[in-house]
Amino acid sequence: MREPLEVATHVAREAGELLMEYLHRPLRSSHKGRRADLVTDADRASERLIVDRLRHAFPQSTIVGEEGGTRSGAADDCWYVDPLDGTTNFTHAYPLFCVSIAYERAGELQAGVVFAPFYNELFVAQRGAGATLNGNPLKVSAVDRLGDALVCTGFHPADFARNGEYFGRMSGVAQAVRRDGSAALDLAFVAAGRFDGFWEFDLSAWDVSAGALIVRESGGVVSQIDGGVFNVNGRAILATNGRIHEEMVEVLSNGR
Ligand code: IPD
Ligand code: CA
Ligand code: CA
Repeated sequence: MREPLEVATHVAREAGELLMEYLHRPLRSSHKGRRADLVTDADRASERLIVDRLRHAFPQSTIVGEEGGTRSGAADDCWYVDPLDGTTNFTHAYPLFCVSIAYERAGELQAGVVFAPFYNELFVAQRGAGATLNGNPLKVSAVDRLGDALVCTGFHPADFARNGEYFGRMSGVAQAVRRDGSAALDLAFVAAGRFDGFWEFDLSAWDVSAGALIVRESGGVVSQIDGGVFNVNGRAILATNGRIHEEMVEVLSNGR
């Protein structure tokens, strides 16, 4: 049997190439019920490709795919698939979008891959073995004050109010705050030291699982917003270089 990381890497690249073909075509997109929560032909085609490949290579595994590719398996392992993270960016040809695939066994993330096809950037992590970007080791930044930090967040399509308040508060303390529109890539950028921290509420396991492992394996810290133990199904995430973690917890907990 091929190793999960090898399969995930291969299929993430394949799906990324497929997305690039769709980027230059007119897209059919529809709303998933909430304003600005889009799904396109590209999301569906990418998920079909990934789920087919994973089913073939790992017929016993559970697969949880954002666009309905969920399948329960008999084994105690699970794949989390976001076939296109950053759909809104994608529909505007804004290049921050990616494919995100994670593999979990016995409740522990084992492997994670985030591929940003526009930039040909492949972020990969294996539990206990570190993380790489296009084969080069990844390391989080060394910034040790929130006042010197570039941090990032995202907003749930249906709830801007809650995080709007934290966005405002963080903007007054951090050096700067960004909102890039792809949670998986935001996490990969923390791993690469491009962002010093990232937080978001109301995310799903397919948004955060690969990125969380990549951050950890790059020396960063991943937790719930209040600093509690991270769980892929916990909906919210705070990921940092470790050095500014407590300061971010503080800012995000105040007044809650
Ligand atoms: C979205 C992106 C975005 C985040 C949203 C997610 P999608 O995923 O990760 O950055 O703010 O909460 O739903 O829908 O583009 O896969
Ligand atoms: Ca997503
Ligand atoms: Ca998606």
